[in-house]
Amino acid sequence: MNKFFVILFFLSIVSGSSIIAGNKIPQLGKDPINKVISAMTLEEKAQLLVGLGQSKITNTDYIVSGAAGMTISIPRLGIPSTVEADGPAGLRIDPRRADDSKTYYCTGFPIATLLSSTWNTDLVKEVGAAMGNEVLEYGCDVLLAPGMNIHRNPLCGRNFEYYSEDPLLTGKIAAAMVNGVQSQGVGTSIKHFAANNQETFRTQNSSNISQRALRELYLKGFEIAVKESHPWTIMSSYNKINGVYTQEDYSLLTSLLREDWGYKGIVMTDWTDLRNTISQVHAGNDLMMPGKSDQVKEIVLAVKSGELSISDVDRNVKRMLEFIIKTPRFKKYNYTNDPDFKSHASITRKSADEGIILLKNDDNTLPLKTESGKIALFGVGSYNFLAGGTGSGNVHKAYVINLAQGLKNAGFELQPKLNSFYEKYIEAEDVQIKELNGKSAWWQVFMPEEAKIIPEYIENRAKDSEVAVITFSRSSGEGFDRHKTEGDFLLTKNERNILENVTKSFHAVNKKVVVVLNIGGVIETASWKNLPDAIILAWQPGQEGGNSVADIIKGNVNPSGKLTMTFPVSYSDVPSSKNFPSDYQGEKFNTDKKDIGYTDYDEGLWIGYRYFNTFDKSVSYPFGYGLSYTTFDYAAAKIKKSGKSYTVDVKITNTGKVAGKEVAELYISAPKGKLEKPAMELKSFAKTKLLQPGESEMVTMTFNLLDLASFDESLNSWITDKGKYKVSIGSSVQDVRQTIFFDVKTMLKEKVKAKI
Ligand code: GLC
Repeated sequence: MNKFFVILFFLSIVSGSSIIAGNKIPQLGKDPINKVISAMTLEEKAQLLVGLGQSKITNTDYIVSGAAGMTISIPRLGIPSTVEADGPAGLRIDPRRADDSKTYYCTGFPIATLLSSTWNTDLVKEVGAAMGNEVLEYGCDVLLAPGMNIHRNPLCGRNFEYYSEDPLLTGKIAAAMVNGVQSQGVGTSIKHFAANNQETFRTQNSSNISQRALRELYLKGFEIAVKESHPWTIMSSYNKINGVYTQEDYSLLTSLLREDWGYKGIVMTDWTDLRNTISQVHAGNDLMMPGKSDQVKEIVLAVKSGELSISDVDRNVKRMLEFIIKTPRFKKYNYTNDPDFKSHASITRKSADEGIILLKNDDNTLPLKTESGKIALFGVGSYNFLAGGTGSGNVHKAYVINLAQGLKNAGFELQPKLNSFYEKYIEAEDVQIKELNGKSAWWQVFMPEEAKIIPEYIENRAKDSEVAVITFSRSSGEGFDRHKTEGDFLLTKNERNILENVTKSFHAVNKKVVVVLNIGGVIETASWKNLPDAIILAWQPGQEGGNSVADIIKGNVNPSGKLTMTFPVSYSDVPSSKNFPSDYQGEKFNTDKKDIGYTDYDEGLWIGYRYFNTFDKSVSYPFGYGLSYTTFDYAAAKIKKSGKSYTVDVKITNTGKVAGKEVAELYISAPKGKLEKPAMELKSFAKTKLLQPGESEMVTMTFNLLDLASFDESLNSWITDKGKYKVSIGSSVQDVRQTIFFDVKTMLKEKVKAKI
């Protein structure tokens, strides 16, 4: 090569310019993607499919310290790195950086379960936009959220990061979240695809599920989210389905996801160790996260040996480049590291206000008047309020407003003796979430001393306070499932003691008792809910949690949250309790152990209200239930059909004395047919605006013929039978207010390709 070209070559390398030896090196975004691909070496292609890995770069090398992962940059082709960061309750990055006095806290939004409890897709979209703004302004490209696995069992350690026992509600809320986050020009990663419904032995456990239960329950939410929000990425889960790793399952990641559903984005693995990289690439897993350097070598060697076809590699590389072009980092967005925290805090508070659920309110105990005298505030959780759960779903927040602060901010006076009693203890003990031998995490809710002095101590409080509020807290997180025992699903003896003593002493002097549940998942309530006068389900409501609970207690906000899962009378009533590692004591994991190496979803479709309602089993609190400070009337329901779509209108009127919002739920009962079906299935829902007393709103709910279909395994098809269908519209699955009927005159059949 003559001197001129040598100089030119050198200059092009040094300047990263795109001219070499007279030919222009294609640049991503400037030249057609196929040209860029043809200019890539096999090594470069392999590198693009493998994350930068945590091992290879320390946090200081991360463009955004504390992010979960990155993709590689290939400057000569104009391909930048991208940054992927958790999680479902807000952006998770390191709050501090070496040699940097600035802090990088993020807003701790409410947990996913609370957001779905709002049943308000517009509000969830607004929360998503706020989260997306933090992702953008902190220089990340993808938020590894929302988590959206079905609440198959109350004890899954990550239910707080997920939405519901119902796939329609899950899908609609997830789509709202994705649309919100992506409205800011950053991506999402709906996860964990799919059927990752337990944490125990999650990296090897096989979820053994029928095709029908898979399609109708465990995949349906993802299908809705893919079709209604187009997530930039999907995260393939750790587990297997029917013995095959999801990350290596061509029928799941290509036949179903791309061919049946038309998904256009990329699939990245959950943060997996080295597995069968070749199968992952072939299956349609575009990005191996966090990425191990061996994987690059494996891909190169496999292509050279013919074990892996270059067309699979090029297919995945193309999708990666199409993804990278969308990212703020590719667009060289000049992020500020200064998101709008003030407005995000108010969105957090507003969304928590709407997701908190009023479970009980005898004799209108709530709202409390601020002049109602001192509040005797019991429970460590009242002073150390849980904003969220643990693991990658946790956010490094600048603060958490606890319930004591929230009540004071709202103008209530607290009984100072109790205040100092708990605050001294918390300071001294520095109460943290206790990992009980790594089996589960729960909050040490009461101090040992409290157990000794409860009787007379509480009688005095009943004399010098006007009302008692007790907080019960529970936490859990990634990697561990919860337990059906005391301190987790059940109250501890201490908790029951204090509840019984407080209610006895306060009721003896005609004073009220309010329980606040600061929990991430379902607990047992039937055996004690008769004791207090009111019960507020606060979930883990984010960093403004104490203010939100106080908003409800004071009546600044009329509660409008509704349950997105069933609270059973006892754990053993739950069908999946027969196939779930609820009393796993941490003995050695092995793949041939029931519920550990494999979990048989023998219950099929009988999850949550689909079971309790169909077989008329009693529950403590039903799906879709939540009280208000006002009452609502439903009237004039009517249905219209246009083509394959149906529209149902119903008039909701506020018949009470205070303004409030109502969630109307629409359930469908199908005619008897070849397949056994749940008695009722949620097919649509709508939340009213804030209705003033006497005010009405005509709400509209829609569904289509395919939404009514059941999956017939023998035909590998969705089938909507002919016949008479019943539409039940109500305030919960057990509180139907309007019923109408319609006929389907011709059966609908839609065959699908994939078999998982
Ligand atoms: C974790 C989680 C996943 C998270 C990822 C990155 O193992 O399962 O939800 O996004 O790793 O932290």
